[in-house]
Amino acid sequence: MLQAVTTSVGAPSQPSVFDKCRAMTERVAIARTEDAYCYFRVIESPQEPEVVVGSRKLVMLGSNNYLGLTNHPKVKEAAVDAVRRFGTGCAGSRLLNGTLTLHEALEAKLARFIGKPAAVTFSTGFQVNLGAISSLLDRGDVVYLDKQDHACIIDGARLSFARIRKFEHNDPGELRRRMKADTGVRGRLVVVDGVFSMEGDIAPLPQIVQVAREYEAAVMVDDAHGLGVLGRHGRGTAEHFDLEDHVHLIMGTFSKSLASIGGFIAGEREVIDHVRHAARSLIFSAALPPASVAAASAALDILEDEPERREQLWRNTRFLQDGLSSLGFSTGDSRTPVVPIIVGDDNLAFLMTRRLEEEGVFVNPVVSPATPKGRALLRTSCMATHTEEHLSRALEACARVGRAFGLIA
Ligand SMILES: Cc1ncc(COP(=O)(O)O)c(C=O)c1O
Repeated sequence: MLQAVTTSVGAPSQPSVFDKCRAMTERVAIARTEDAYCYFRVIESPQEPEVVVGSRKLVMLGSNNYLGLTNHPKVKEAAVDAVRRFGTGCAGSRLLNGTLTLHEALEAKLARFIGKPAAVTFSTGFQVNLGAISSLLDRGDVVYLDKQDHACIIDGARLSFARIRKFEHNDPGELRRRMKADTGVRGRLVVVDGVFSMEGDIAPLPQIVQVAREYEAAVMVDDAHGLGVLGRHGRGTAEHFDLEDHVHLIMGTFSKSLASIGGFIAGEREVIDHVRHAARSLIFSAALPPASVAAASAALDILEDEPERREQLWRNTRFLQDGLSSLGFSTGDSRTPVVPIIVGDDNLAFLMTRRLEEEGVFVNPVVSPATPKGRALLRTSCMATHTEEHLSRALEACARVGRAFGLIA
């Protein structure tokens, strides 16, 4: 007869690896008591120019929905139709059993739009950088990163066996010095954000491309925030500088202008074929689901068919930039719909974010390490679908809060 075996191991002890979790819990609790906790806010409505938080309407100045397409009837219908035709998931990775006609059609459309021979889609933009960068680099290669590059670029580089060199933000002179100092290098890759996600400034691509050519380095641009925003046709930073033929790889996400989730990388066919077969975040992860593919595809059609959306986005951008700087806020070197309000101190960023919420505006606090220490900021961003009334209301609230905290006179 089987008998239950009881052991006397005593009360379970907390393994020390979890010590840091207690510290995190305490930090969150303190922030909550100081009314300075601003993360994981729950939104009860679609991502529109106004959102509902805690049953209150707020002007949404904290979204990456630049073209205002996340609640567009055609985009939603495309997603619903894809679910009807293909169901809710792909049940496996692209490599083995998850590739649908929808994926191939979107990849062809993206390659044509970006002006490269081929493109491959991933399930998130983050996974694009993890998989593409790590699969392209080998031992003996060197990868050059701007210090303000997005976290997933840095993680992609860390996952490779290449040496990593970081250069000062937007400083092609330092990039050149670093390249010169590296000898016995197999291959070189430079990866920069086209539009830097926190401060909305643009990479100096003409100078970066020039340095890269001097050292036969490949150039990759992460255009998460440039796609649909910059360039005459919305093709992004390379188009903005008329350098599409000089940038070897362009990646983008579907989670911003393209109103969905997922990402892609476009380049020469051989290179994309390599990524398609070697990127671990693609081949060992489930495929982008039908609804997300179809939504991104429909959003791309609207991006191309309705340039007036981009024009309105730029009118709104100028209105917001001019409004914030004429109030006396420091807005850094923003050249895009991402407009930072530099506040300096981390805690001030949290307190101001909460106060702005009380005043009817949703913004994002950004603190170190997402910004350099002492350069905390409130990240604001506008959409094509904001009206002047929304933005004026938000600016009035920013003025009241900025004065209350002594940031402006
Ligand atoms: C510059 C940049 N690259 C990549 C990503 C990752 O994209 P996703 O959120 O679609 O995974 C982001 C997201 O915030 C980003 O800002």
